[in-house]
Amino acid sequence: MLDTFSANTIKHVSYNPHTGNAFKNVIKPQNFADASNEITSWDGYTATPLHRLENLAQKLKIQNIFYKDEGPRFGLGSFKALGGAYAAAKVLQREIKNKFNEKVTLSNLRTGKYASLTNTITLVSATDGNHGRSLAWGAQQFGAACKIYIHTEVSEERAKAMRSYGADVIRIDGDYDDSVRIAKTNAEANGWFIVSDTSWENYTQPPTNVMAGYGVMTNEIIQELPFPPSHVLLQGGVGGLAASVCAALRQKWGKDSPRVIIVEPDLANCLYTSAIKDAPTSVQITDETIMAGLSCGDPSPLAWDILREEASDFISIPDTLIAPAMKLLAKPIGNDPTIVAGESAVAGLAAIIAVAQDETLRKDLDINTSSQILLIGSEGATDKALYHKIISS
Ligand SMILES: Cc1ncc(COP(=O)(O)O)c(C=O)c1O
Repeated sequence: MLDTFSANTIKHVSYNPHTGNAFKNVIKPQNFADASNEITSWDGYTATPLHRLENLAQKLKIQNIFYKDEGPRFGLGSFKALGGAYAAAKVLQREIKNKFNEKVTLSNLRTGKYASLTNTITLVSATDGNHGRSLAWGAQQFGAACKIYIHTEVSEERAKAMRSYGADVIRIDGDYDDSVRIAKTNAEANGWFIVSDTSWENYTQPPTNVMAGYGVMTNEIIQELPFPPSHVLLQGGVGGLAASVCAALRQKWGKDSPRVIIVEPDLANCLYTSAIKDAPTSVQITDETIMAGLSCGDPSPLAWDILREEASDFISIPDTLIAPAMKLLAKPIGNDPTIVAGESAVAGLAAIIAVAQDETLRKDLDINTSSQILLIGSEGATDKALYHKIISS
């Protein structure tokens, strides 16, 4: 089973990180603290599990593998629940303050004090599923209208989930990056407010809030792990998840922070390509990867600002490793926990299995029998039909 993850299926580049303080300047400790205070006070907040895959680790001749399982997050199925909904609240707060000159607290927003104002505001975003679900949920909680742009390949089940939170879901002809462009154009034309998880020139506030929201997840990991892991593998779409996690780890553990390894699909490896070019670089998406949440051709410049100083390795993997990795969690080795993991959740797991079984890569990435590996299981079965199809294949 583990032979499927042979080293020659993956591509690895070493990167010499730049020096700098982006880890504390782009998302400030106060941004993380504010987001955490707000999100942990929401109804239904509970920390997600941090599993140990001890039997798998033993087979791979490493000390331990920690897997943060974001499937149960707020009943939305992914870590994204922490970002879009929080950024939505922050946009509404700023907007009501600017427009009506009112001092607004997030708890006033939550309890509906400004319902007659929030329901005049429309929030909008492009998504390949999970960010849109979070934004739609947040908009519903805070009483704003929501429009979500999705591309051709986003599954109908994912579109349905967003509609169930009251969003108007619009399917465009094109890929994720086209949907971002169309959402932007229509927002400008109609006076809607974009709540995006990716940044661009002069648009940094909501993506910073989104990344600050993800810090709730990293905080939970830090509270549960008494020591820094040696390595963290972070899957990349636009890079927001990876940038947020490594910034929060660096803020907590400084020089003792884990070695940061970024993992992406071959079909959308814009961060891997950015590392090779040593500058944020877009890639053309020709075929959609099965890792729907990672299907992004344009890196987020804000995320790249952090990753260029924190990441030392970039790995690109083929889609063929995803089903075996999901099955390995569904039918684990020995008494390792059974985990329901979606396609984008297992990128890091697939990569570490390939790396750990290859002597050259072990050396290059400094993996040995004392290694403590942290993985972010970023989603559960966010498309249940697809999950069951893959697991039973
Ligand atoms: C499940 C899942 N994992 C990882 C990612 C990657 O996050 P980012 O685009 O911030 O790099 C996404 C993005 O949508 C996702 O949905």
